[in-house]
Amino acid sequence: MTIPDITIAVDGYSSTGKSTFAKMVAKEFGFLYLDSGAMYRGVTLFAMEGGMAPGGKIDEPALQKTLPQLDLHFERDDDKTLLFSGSRCIEKEIRTLEVSALVSPVSAIPFVRAWVDERLHAFSEGGRVIMDGRDIGTTVFPNAEVKIFMTAEPATRAQRRYDELVAKGDNPSLEDVMKNLQERDYIDSHRETSPLRQAEDAFVLDNTHMTLHEELVWMLGLFQGRFGLLETPGITW
Ligand code: DC
Repeated sequence: MTIPDITIAVDGYSSTGKSTFAKMVAKEFGFLYLDSGAMYRGVTLFAMEGGMAPGGKIDEPALQKTLPQLDLHFERDDDKTLLFSGSRCIEKEIRTLEVSALVSPVSAIPFVRAWVDERLHAFSEGGRVIMDGRDIGTTVFPNAEVKIFMTAEPATRAQRRYDELVAKGDNPSLEDVMKNLQERDYIDSHRETSPLRQAEDAFVLDNTHMTLHEELVWMLGLFQGRFGLLETPGITW
């Protein structure tokens, strides 16, 4: 089966496994993977390190003034895509619970969204991209050829995020992780600019009880329907 040079948009709630799924699809089918949430996390880290989030309150005028100085970009490292701020790799710093606690309010700011969107479009210029986030199929790439909306039960999502943080050496409580997920889901789906919602033409993938391999088989089924594996010469059913 040949998959054409399309754009795949993967949206959904926090910790539904969007990036794991998108990375796997990128690797299996030769797509460039872009993590739009990392960009919002990068802006959040920039605000925190620049003293623009004292006591968890974002100093919007200061952020708006200094944002043009921020150089966020992705660099490839084998099959990984890492976020850099200038020459500094910030992959680890952007995944902490402190950044997670502030990223939703930062990403609700309209000038931040415009700044990130502009970069996402520039990074994707070559095509054949799979991008995950909250508004990719609705706002960033409303014409994406394939849109996927991911979901999973809250307890499963919290456990996954908790395991991920522990594996990275953090020591969070499961309760804090669950609270952070609930707060982010609420802010992400209730903000005024580009709230998280399922695009009308999105396929829903609920992976609560699925293995990664089953997700891959699901994706193959979707491609099969869209791009005609059944018509591939040489394959008999
Ligand atoms: O996918 P993630 O958990 O790394 O995303 C971090 C935050 O960034 C998330 O809580 C909401 C925001 N985000 C967004 O508003 N729009 C996107 N396209 C991607 C992420």
